[in-house]
Amino acid sequence: MSAKPTILVTRQFPKAVMQRLRENYTLIDNPDDHDLSPDELISNATKAEAILCDPTNHFSKAVIDQLPSNIGLITTFSVGYDHIDAAAANEKGIKLGNTPDVLTDATADIALLCMLGASRLAYKAAQALRGGKWGRWSSTDFLGFHMSGKKLAIIGMGRIGQAVARRAIGFDMQIHYHNRRPVMAGGLEEAIYHTELESLLPNASYLSLNCPLTPQTHHLINENTIKLLPENAVIVNTARGAVIDDNALIPALQSGRVAAAGLDVFENEPNFDKRYLDLENVFLLPHIGSATYETRDAMGFKCCDNLDAYFAGEDIPNPITA
Ligand code: DGY
Repeated sequence: MSAKPTILVTRQFPKAVMQRLRENYTLIDNPDDHDLSPDELISNATKAEAILCDPTNHFSKAVIDQLPSNIGLITTFSVGYDHIDAAAANEKGIKLGNTPDVLTDATADIALLCMLGASRLAYKAAQALRGGKWGRWSSTDFLGFHMSGKKLAIIGMGRIGQAVARRAIGFDMQIHYHNRRPVMAGGLEEAIYHTELESLLPNASYLSLNCPLTPQTHHLINENTIKLLPENAVIVNTARGAVIDDNALIPALQSGRVAAAGLDVFENEPNFDKRYLDLENVFLLPHIGSATYETRDAMGFKCCDNLDAYFAGEDIPNPITA
């Protein structure tokens, strides 16, 4: 029997995933689950042939250039891959894999939770109840904004954007979107395509960010684009924090120019901008879009599938093609 291949596993993953990995591979793992430094990523890779990482591990060009030549695959426990310099990996001949599809529903569910949580001021109401400040029912307390029947603008109509749109249609929302190309199927035939943000954003009573983080989408929501939103807009981000410029959104939330925000992701997370904590019109979650037992196991198994195919000399089933 040939020896098991050795892989670097940078974090602790769900039990069933770790078990499947241990059955098939010799692991260089991270038992105390600490954040591996760039030097540790490089030195721990010395004896490995592939790496299983997650979005907290940053594979910059500098790190990738210093990886030993025995590393042929990096597979990330995420669909997003902005933490990996794909061009540097391509240049070095390292294959990249990710976990599409299996987290679409869980993430879209959380986008809807953020939309409702933000517009119905769920944080303020829940905090009042838990803090013993709920005196009696009042027709003027805890008023939020009506979501059903409003316009929803989506930036990024990939799998998750489309799943958000389909859910929002159940709330009788009219769907507008901006994407590289129109999406004509899957129950979204009536969604209105905008080639430019300038025409999309005035329709964004609700704005859902579902695009990847790229140099083009970095701080896409900024002082200028916020000016294009209608009054009482609600912004929801389940994509990547840096799509929003916090220095533009926070003052807009403070002044009421933007009515509310539902944020599951943050620039520089977990060190997010603490000014959000002082705002009652913000519904905050700690990047839990894909955090269900079922989804996290499925994500891990996708990574295992990528590893198994790679070591069998086959094309990996979930390649990053950027
Ligand atoms: C992803 O997969 O990119 C998410 O942000 C983590 O679930």
